[in-house]
Amino acid sequence: MPTDRSATLSFSDGSPSVVFPILPGSLGPDVIDIRSLYGKTGKFTYDPGFMSTAACKSAITFIDGDKGELLYRGYPIEELAIKCDFMDTCHLLLYGELPDVAQKDDFVMRVTRHTMVNEQMQFFMRGFRRDAHPMAVMTGLVGALSAFYPDSINLNDPRQRDISAIRLIAKMPTLVAMAYKYTVGQPYMYPRNDLTYAANFMRMMFATPCEDYKINDVLTRAMDRIFILHADHEQNASTSTVRMCASSGTNPFAAIAAGVACLWGPAHGGANEACLNMLGEIQAQGGAAKIGDFIAKVKDKNSGVKLMGFGHRVYKNYDPRAKLMRETCHEVLTELGLHDDPLFKLAMALEKIALEDEYFVSRKLYPNVDFYSGIVQKAIGIPVPLFTAIFALARTVGWIAQLNEMIADPEYKIGRPRQLFSGATRRSVKPIDQR
Ligand code: SDX
Repeated sequence: MPTDRSATLSFSDGSPSVVFPILPGSLGPDVIDIRSLYGKTGKFTYDPGFMSTAACKSAITFIDGDKGELLYRGYPIEELAIKCDFMDTCHLLLYGELPDVAQKDDFVMRVTRHTMVNEQMQFFMRGFRRDAHPMAVMTGLVGALSAFYPDSINLNDPRQRDISAIRLIAKMPTLVAMAYKYTVGQPYMYPRNDLTYAANFMRMMFATPCEDYKINDVLTRAMDRIFILHADHEQNASTSTVRMCASSGTNPFAAIAAGVACLWGPAHGGANEACLNMLGEIQAQGGAAKIGDFIAKVKDKNSGVKLMGFGHRVYKNYDPRAKLMRETCHEVLTELGLHDDPLFKLAMALEKIALEDEYFVSRKLYPNVDFYSGIVQKAIGIPVPLFTAIFALARTVGWIAQLNEMIADPEYKIGRPRQLFSGATRRSVKPIDQR
């Protein structure tokens, strides 16, 4: 029966109407619970790209695209980015609460003690060409981790899920730094237990056996903020991939490797690399004087050119992460005496034009997190092809938290969408001389 919290589906062909319950969230849009639709009507819904589909119930991250709001477990990203560090954020996303002093010390100690990888991992690297894209390397290495930890691959054992979460969070920086060192032909640097998570990563990236890396607090804080801002983001493409992959019961390492592979795409995590390449192209064509020509190409649908670092499926307002990333950009460039950096000035000019241009305003295309993160990373000395690998490093905790939430949900089932079939109807095979 229809209630004040239900939706009634009626049919123009006189088929009986069907009533579905409406479920409220603690924040954001209600959902129409259509799980009984096929059983009651023999029909599917049709929603390629899942523009109107809630694929799951989650308590981890909330986004209000119209307001440009992002909450991790209820805490605004603006507060977390300023008052917390990445280890606080990992504890929050994984366990639902910010840690107290004792919990933080324990969590940091557990992560720190798992930062080394098995020495055999080095031999995987040798199979790659030196110019292999770091995301090709990361997709391989993360999946390969499952071969080293048979004691933590049972997804249905909460204890094993927790230790694999710690191992993945701890080892991603080590693997990303190894992927980088391999491309430049330098020896790998082992993690050190006396450094913070972000400082450890920076040292593994930039130290050599001949000269240690001098930790710069501004740059380390910037890297930690990049990790915080990229840690989770609701049911984005790579997180949905991880959930779908884990729903088959595969091990956590394989599911996270699937997320790495999905994040690689230029429409998703690959956008920061694509954004910097785009700025480089405009620079090469004449810089700010050529922005107008580039914008004209973007507006020409036939060009296939997009303004990388702009637009978002959910944010139809400024991505709150982009604002924070822009501040970090200023801090890093000032620290390094690069505030006249031509790429940054070009990015600011491009942002100004896009925010005033009717084409972008009418389509609600605002800068997203990727627009400034690439400039910060380039200024720090991170090579452009490594940007998405660092995004994957940061997003690993979000993928794991979402995976754990799904597995712990007694209602979860293996993901198995259906389709609207548009192919050939039944027909018989003819002998080849009659085809
Ligand atoms: C991330 O989902 C997440 O949360 C992702 C992420 C996360 O943290 O996990 O936030 C990380 O992936 C950020 C997004 C990074 N991607 C980019 O910066 C690549 C450039 N952006 C576009 O590819 C695009 O904006 C998407 C893919 C991000 C969103 O695309 P939608 O929601 O599917 O929107 P759409 O493609 O339907 O675009 C609507 C209109 C279209 O024009 P019309 O057909 O209406 O005339 O806007 C246009 C598009 O052509 N458009 C753009 C554009 N993005 C959309 N035009 C020029 N440049 C762009 N960047």
